[in-house]
Amino acid sequence: MSDDTNLSLRQRKFAVFGNPIKQSRSPFIHAEFAKQTGLSLQYRAIRVELDNFERAVMDFFKAGGSGLNVTVPFKEQAYQLASRHSARAVRAKACNTLRPEADGVYGDNTDGIGLIRDMIANHGWSLRGVRVLLLGAGGAARGVMEPLLRENPSALVVANRTVAKAETLAKEFADLGQVVGKALTDLASELPFDVIINATSAGLKGETPDLPGSLLGDRCCCYDMVYGAEPTAFMRWAAENAAWAVSDGLGMLVEQAAESFYVWHRERPDTASVINHLRGSLAAA
Ligand code: ATR
Repeated sequence: MSDDTNLSLRQRKFAVFGNPIKQSRSPFIHAEFAKQTGLSLQYRAIRVELDNFERAVMDFFKAGGSGLNVTVPFKEQAYQLASRHSARAVRAKACNTLRPEADGVYGDNTDGIGLIRDMIANHGWSLRGVRVLLLGAGGAARGVMEPLLRENPSALVVANRTVAKAETLAKEFADLGQVVGKALTDLASELPFDVIINATSAGLKGETPDLPGSLLGDRCCCYDMVYGAEPTAFMRWAAENAAWAVSDGLGMLVEQAAESFYVWHRERPDTASVINHLRGSLAAA
């Protein structure tokens, strides 16, 4: 047997399942983390047919796979499939991280902590005692509700195009802090906010909710959970309205990956160098 074959047999196998998956940066991120920590692993991006998620997961683990990330549109299915969940996955009702166990599959969700680490540790923003506006009430918003509220903002307003979804989400998390649901069209009378987070998918169509600039308080920090080579429509809106700081979601992507890496390997990789590298390759693209 060649040295290469020996190496690939020893390597633990990981992957991210999604559809589409072509643009995934996760193989690069996990390869960088592995280099840093000296672990030998294989991490692939795999496109899974929309009706074949459960079977694909089970086959991957049966074949000796050690862990999976799960992305759009399978996170809720991953939650259903898991037989044991972390507390944060239960709150999110979605999983982006899976690990096989003796008698089933363990499901976790690292998206929320990824956002919080990027805002607080990487950007130096604070959520404690400040007013936070979360735009959107879909899966992406749900996934960050618990970690946001655990930072004890003075108020969290969830605003959505479909108001009923914002109200439902607010009720569901009311045990964790001061949170209300509102319609996007009903924000004009709100006091200004210190932090505004975009968790809508409007940006995928190059759009951003039409909101009054008066929502931005002095030194308002604006965060878009998506990223790209160019500033998103939401980021441009924030800059035009004199936001103090504006960020896309590239750091959140790397931080959620680092937390998944920790769930699997109990090692904490350095994220800053990986964020910088990805930022450079986005700019060069
Ligand atoms: P995700 O998993 O990305 O959160 P989702 O669960 O489909 O995807 O949720 C998409 C979110 O973006 C929802 O809050 C949606 O609002 P509705 O609940 O009213 O559909 C919001 N959204 C999508 N396009 C939007 C747009 N053009 N303007 C405002 N909100 C939009």
